[in-house]
Amino acid sequence: MRKFIIANWKLNPPDLRSAKKLASSVLAKTKNKIVVICPPAIFLSSIKFDILGAQDCFWKEEGAYTGQVSPKQLKSLKVEYCIVGHSERRATGDSDSNINAKIKALLEVKITPVLCVGFGTSASQSDSEVIKVLKKQIKSCTYGTDVSKIIVAYEPVWAISSGNPYATKKIATPEHSEKISAFIKTAHNIQKVLYGGSINAGNAKSFLSQKNIDGLLVGGASLNPAEFNKIIATSL
Ligand code: PGA
Repeated sequence: MRKFIIANWKLNPPDLRSAKKLASSVLAKTKNKIVVICPPAIFLSSIKFDILGAQDCFWKEEGAYTGQVSPKQLKSLKVEYCIVGHSERRATGDSDSNINAKIKALLEVKITPVLCVGFGTSASQSDSEVIKVLKKQIKSCTYGTDVSKIIVAYEPVWAISSGNPYATKKIATPEHSEKISAFIKTAHNIQKVLYGGSINAGNAKSFLSQKNIDGLLVGGASLNPAEFNKIIATSL
């Protein structure tokens, strides 16, 4: 089965010219991977790439919601995936119930939600403590939805490479992530689980070779085309 490599560009790069250049440097077609790039929403209409994703969305279709972007608008730009519940959004107030509404709105227009979980976990927690946090997040965020259409990304907040106050410069082990992914699949009936947090060309293979890890959500390393292409080209 093909594994996913999803690039989360976050608030990068600074202008459209660099965004187009970055997108055109990424290997879009590979035999054994599905490659998705998630640029800032403002660049989505101008970037050419086989499979596009968004970094977040709102749950209403239209109306007086200043600054928001709807799943329907994303769909009109041929967006196929949308990250929701990223820890950097949760840190600024995104709640499980908002995320649940976003997932429902995305499924309505047939965009695949990539639900990030792992905010509120810490490096010192035992597997069962981590599972307790994730259980609550997944249950509330997917309430009333068809879970077979949702991808979950396990992103322990402390393992994210930079830019958040919880970053520890540590990375989760592939064994821990495999165990958590297997739990998410069995307990919540989720079919695809990705890992995200400090992935680079050197460690990608150790995660991708795990049976229950169906791909990677890559932040910092996705901004460096040579590094990101190596991740895409990882042999399995
Ligand atoms: P990172 O980010 O790869 O830079 O750790 C991952 C993410 O935040 O999605």
